[in-house]
Amino acid sequence: MAENDWWKKSVVYQVYPRSYQDSNGDGIGDLPGLTSRLPYIKDLGADVIWLNPIYKSPDKDNGYDISDYRNIQPAYGTMDDFDNLLQEAHVLGLKIMMDLVVNHTSDQNKWFQESKKSKDNRYRDYYVWRDPVDGHAPNNWGSYFNGSTWKFDETTGQYYLHLFAEGQPDLNWENPQVRDEVWNVMKFWLDKGVDGFRMDVINLISKPTGLPDGQKAPDGKYADVGKVVADGPRLNEFLQEMNQKVLSKYDVMTVGEMPDSTPDDAIKYTGLDSHELNMVFQFDHVGLAGNDDPRLGKWSDKKVNLVELKQSLSKWETELNGKGWNSLYWNNHDQPRTVSKFGNDDPKYRDKAAKMLGTTLHMMQGTPYVYEGEELGMTNVHYKKLSQYEDLESLNAYREFVDDEKIIDKDSMLKYLSARSRDNARTPMQWDNNKNAGFTSGKPWFELNPNYTEINARNQIENQSSVFAYYKKLIELRHNSDLIIYGDYELLDPEDEEVFTYKRRYNDETLLVISNFTDKELTRDYNQSAGKLLIGNYDDDRNMELRPYESKVYLFK
Ligand code: GLC
Ligand code: CA
Repeated sequence: MAENDWWKKSVVYQVYPRSYQDSNGDGIGDLPGLTSRLPYIKDLGADVIWLNPIYKSPDKDNGYDISDYRNIQPAYGTMDDFDNLLQEAHVLGLKIMMDLVVNHTSDQNKWFQESKKSKDNRYRDYYVWRDPVDGHAPNNWGSYFNGSTWKFDETTGQYYLHLFAEGQPDLNWENPQVRDEVWNVMKFWLDKGVDGFRMDVINLISKPTGLPDGQKAPDGKYADVGKVVADGPRLNEFLQEMNQKVLSKYDVMTVGEMPDSTPDDAIKYTGLDSHELNMVFQFDHVGLAGNDDPRLGKWSDKKVNLVELKQSLSKWETELNGKGWNSLYWNNHDQPRTVSKFGNDDPKYRDKAAKMLGTTLHMMQGTPYVYEGEELGMTNVHYKKLSQYEDLESLNAYREFVDDEKIIDKDSMLKYLSARSRDNARTPMQWDNNKNAGFTSGKPWFELNPNYTEINARNQIENQSSVFAYYKKLIELRHNSDLIIYGDYELLDPEDEEVFTYKRRYNDETLLVISNFTDKELTRDYNQSAGKLLIGNYDDDRNMELRPYESKVYLFK
């Protein structure tokens, strides 16, 4: 084993700072607020905190549109607050991983402000500008956030490229100056002592030569841009340059967010000899249960099929084994809440289902990520009205599908938003059952989930049978087991539609993980009685019997 592979043994806790803890009553979470909560994260047992973007930003996409890479968003605090956070975290033995958003900037970034002034501005080539073709956009690419990826700019009569929102113009990575700027930004933060980067949509930075049209989605107006742009021709080269010029000089952890990547791609980026990244976030399992109508993509309220879920997660486990490294996650700030999507958020079952999902993921090979509130079993918020939503992806999709193209009626779209909107993850953290769940003394920037009176940290911290206590135990088990960290993975009974069972093997030890994904009483015989129960989400072990959402882990020596 490589010596500096601490990131393989770590558990990461993701903080969405806007919704974590407000310290000054303006209703917005901030850095001093987060600093005050570090002991909670330490208590959970996490090793690393991934911080969503905290840089200066007009917040069109909640910080994923950066206008100044070297300054802190004023609502979150000052650079002193950041330095203090980093120092306090390090004192507690917690590492901090920053979000690096360099596929695009904000249109308010100085580089773009200059770039759009004239065709001969020295920053012109920092972005992707093209002439109109027959009076239209240069190609048929459709943005991740709906509409074309091209925006016409009157001043110079050219279009600029934006894979995401109009306010998020794509950087031109073909330009070596752009790459140098990025390396310098990275060094700025690494020299402060940050411990790594989560790299936003990093597999989209190398655009295909000539920017060719893509294949149009069935009946759609535009081509799915991910299919054309992901894993482009110079991606490996760019990542190797990044590694050589920056990453290799520091002992840090890196994870690349990679929509549309395959295990083969991931092996290229995270392979032992590739000198690129440590691990990737793949999207296969979170992309399951999309709409039958391909135009609607992720917008659906279908339940995930367990056979497909097992196949998807197992493919990554087996294909990367010994060749690359997995990241393990159920949710993040872009996904609905774990227990609502993959389990059951009915009050009768949610506690068991949350623990069952935690077990299933944390016993796999890879680095687990816990998204704030997941350790409490926080659920989707289930808003009823469009006006309650805030996220531009949700609002744009509603406008396009309901108002403009009339593909779908209002009530169905509201159901889909309730099941899949990113806003489900962004409601404030539920600390206690005081006003606003202890998140703020002011007016929260975003409506809270009313179930905070029942689901909150204070209720759970002291309670030995809480979801929090259970996650703590899962993390502790991993910290003390090479079997859990390095063991080989084998899926059992892939066709079982109700139970997810797998084994891990390392030297002479075997781990058996059995999870009932249904609300039914079932029986499964895996010779459980010969093993030692390491953890389970019911008080007693009934051997072959599986109660609703029951999950158990056995060790065989
Ligand atoms: C990533 C982020 C998401 C953001 C997008 C554009 O997918 O996780 O929140 O909207 O990139 O930056
Ligand atoms: Ca604040």
